[in-house]
Amino acid sequence: MRILSGIQPSGRLHIGNYFGMMRPSIELQEKGEAFYFLANYHALTTVHSAKDLRDYTREAAVDFLAAGLDPSKALLFRQSDVPEHTELCWLLSVVTPMGLLERCHSYKDKVAKGIASSSGLFFYPVLMASDILIYNSDLVPVGKDQKQHLEVARDIAIKFNELFGETFRLPAPMIREEVATVPGLDGRKMSKSYNNGLFLSDEEKVFRKKIMGIVTDSSPVESPKPTENSTLLQLYSLAASPEEVAEMESSFRQGGKGYGDYKKRLFETLWNYFAPYRAKRTELLAQPELVDRVLAEGATKARVIAQATLSKAREAMGL
Ligand code: TYM
Repeated sequence: MRILSGIQPSGRLHIGNYFGMMRPSIELQEKGEAFYFLANYHALTTVHSAKDLRDYTREAAVDFLAAGLDPSKALLFRQSDVPEHTELCWLLSVVTPMGLLERCHSYKDKVAKGIASSSGLFFYPVLMASDILIYNSDLVPVGKDQKQHLEVARDIAIKFNELFGETFRLPAPMIREEVATVPGLDGRKMSKSYNNGLFLSDEEKVFRKKIMGIVTDSSPVESPKPTENSTLLQLYSLAASPEEVAEMESSFRQGGKGYGDYKKRLFETLWNYFAPYRAKRTELLAQPELVDRVLAEGATKARVIAQATLSKAREAMGL
């Protein structure tokens, strides 16, 4: 089984990225051939500073390794080190109906958030389809916000195979329901562009302050607290055991405790959960050559597969 996923180095990575995509991806490295990449071509749709893009890309590589990606089991590489992604993207574009892209809500959401509507931003799902199809991926672990893009990739593969013969395997998304959409500090989806994130690399003081500032209702200390749609409970359940979550839920229902107590417990649980990640991250930051080597080796190996698929597609189309 071949597993593939990507993450945009368009800012620092947050715990939504971690629970929604990084942790499932890292678990899957035990289950098949795994390809994980830093989607820096994609990040160009929003990052227009060369220094920022380089820094975010390197930090994302460090984060992935610190979170447990094992380079002897999974490949980690920069998308731009396998330029075949962009050539296949063009080949796919000529069989991609405009309507398919016009329906994509991610483009509309980004424009609504104020991101400049470049043609690259609109075209983004075709490049994403290329990323997936070029490795003949079977399974793509992602958060819920990427579901539609996966459907687009499948539709493009079906269309291409119909026109030019069996060339691409049809990929399936893997979305873990319990972490499909991790909420941010304001209750909306945690997002790099909403300013509502708990970042993996946040300092302790910042991390604590953000958690203590999570928006809650105005229930007085003694009264029961609503458990439904509680951002605190949702975040707590990411790192606490089912028994601990059940205990907090029953305490919510009982009343007698203020939100401040629950926030403290949430902070401690999340902060402790990420202790091994922070220790590994500090080690890796002191070894930049190791990170470079992992990325270079990952790209060399990924490129062999990408070139083979691209040749097949070129040949099938008459190039
Ligand atoms: P990106 O960089 O926005 O996010 C990376 C991954 O993190 C997941 N994610 C979340 N999951 C749960 N809760 C959240 N609040 C949350 N925020 C982000 C995303 O669903 C994603 O899985 N287009 C992709 C990058 C990409 C890609 C690919 C992915 C490019 N090519 C090929 C898979 C296959 C993106 O923008 O992810």
